[in-house]
Amino acid sequence: MTRRFEGKVALVTGGARGIGRGIVEAISAEGGIVGILDRAEDLAQDAAAAIEAAGGRAMAFGGDVANRETFTAAIGIMKQRFGRFDILVNNAIWVRYGPIADITPEMLGRMVGTGFNSIVWGIQTAADAMEAGGSIVNIASAAAFIGMPQGMVYGGVKAGVLGLSRCAAAELGPRGIRVNSVCPGSVPTEGVKINVDPEKVKLRIAKTPMQRLSSVEDVARAACFLASDEAQSITGESLLVDGGSTHAYL
Ligand SMILES: NC(=O)c1ccc[n+]([C@@H]2O[C@H](COP(=O)([O-])OP(=O)(O)OC[C@H]3O[C@@H](n4cnc5c(N)ncnc54)[C@H](O)[C@@H]3O)[C@@H](O)[C@H]2O)c1
Repeated sequence: MTRRFEGKVALVTGGARGIGRGIVEAISAEGGIVGILDRAEDLAQDAAAAIEAAGGRAMAFGGDVANRETFTAAIGIMKQRFGRFDILVNNAIWVRYGPIADITPEMLGRMVGTGFNSIVWGIQTAADAMEAGGSIVNIASAAAFIGMPQGMVYGGVKAGVLGLSRCAAAELGPRGIRVNSVCPGSVPTEGVKINVDPEKVKLRIAKTPMQRLSSVEDVARAACFLASDEAQSITGESLLVDGGSTHAYL
């Protein structure tokens, strides 16, 4: 096991479960101190306790990522406590799929707030706290590249994340701060179980060259690579972790 994050301080949004939790565990396993920021504060505390029980260091923060103050509070506390801030993983989002006709102002506001605005506030706050060597990883989606029926807002938000990541990378590069995105295909997390019909999941596997869904660990490994110094010449990039499905025509 490598120790790429020894002495580094990271914050993962939506880190209490699913892909975020996998990234929290992977960063901690390689020596990083991890902040877990999640609307589900109890789950975030459980995740932090599990990391500490396994010998790592973690802090839990409750809050809604749609609000800038959530980031200023969490990153401010971590910087004050540990004297540095190195890695932000913007992972949280609230998602609902549905026909265009059923989109409501409430749904649109919530998805854009948690999936797009949050990343703007996260990047703004993290960039202010980071020194050269800092790395921001945004969890976008393969949906940024494809036309998914009943996913107009989600696909639009995720495509927007890739656009803002490239702009942030261009602006922050001269300060030595990198910004990249990971684009998972379907990963069987709680969020997906609520939102996606099991028959559709079977169809997606059949249309995936690797004939399987990607796992939380697959996505966490890609996020850790981009967050680490191994990717020190990579910025403004997006990395598909989808078993080849997005570019295949099966
Ligand atoms: N699972 C997939 O198939 C898949 C595919 C592509 C992209 N992604 C992306 O990966 C990321 C994680 O997905 P997941 O499947 O693990 O999700 P999930 O629903 O299982 O977990 C999301 C976490 O974010 C937290 N969260 C939600 N709204 C929040 C808010 N307003 N403030 C703070 N925390 C909030 C939830 O409490 C939860 O812990 C998302 O950005 C998602 O779009 C997932």
